[in-house]
Amino acid sequence: MKHILKSFAVFALAISLTNCGEKKETDAYGNPVEEKTETTTETTVDPLFAKGQELFEGKGTCTACHKPDTKVIGPSIKEIAKIYKEKDASIAAFINEEGEPIVDPTQYETMKTNFAITKAMTAEERKALEVYMMSFE
Ligand code: HEC
Repeated sequence: MKHILKSFAVFALAISLTNCGEKKETDAYGNPVEEKTETTTETTVDPLFAKGQELFEGKGTCTACHKPDTKVIGPSIKEIAKIYKEKDASIAAFINEEGEPIVDPTQYETMKTNFAITKAMTAEERKALEVYMMSFE
């Protein structure tokens, strides 16, 4: 009797182990697949940055006069971003004609011609342009 009980216990244990093994999912190589906890390593891109870039190159026509590294008609984006960071100034305010030119005041009249476009934008669009330009360093 004792012997029977013992073997039954072993049998039961064997079954539970097999069941347990069956439940585990395995990959193509037979290795158990761990339950995936979504660890997204993507760096979150500020949605305003993408929007700002689109406006800068599109509707804003800014690329016509501003390039990342080199001065063309207007100062480079890097130069503008550097000065705006140093002075803790707001590009969004400037392009809404709420600030003074601090980069190249002698050429302000040329930049002013673009205010017709930027002042017709929403505050969010102007902020997006600021986020985009300030990302340059
Ligand atoms: C027709 C050419 C032209 C276009 C188009 C243009 N800019 Fe400019 N921008 C200039 C010139 C020239 C300056 C230098 C004068 C100045 O500093 O105000 C300038 C200066 C600036 C400055 C620095 C202002 C300061 O404090 O001195 C910012 C910021 C700026 N532009 C943003 C923009 C944005 C954003 C756009 C697009 C929506 C744009 N610009 C389109 C010619 C242009």
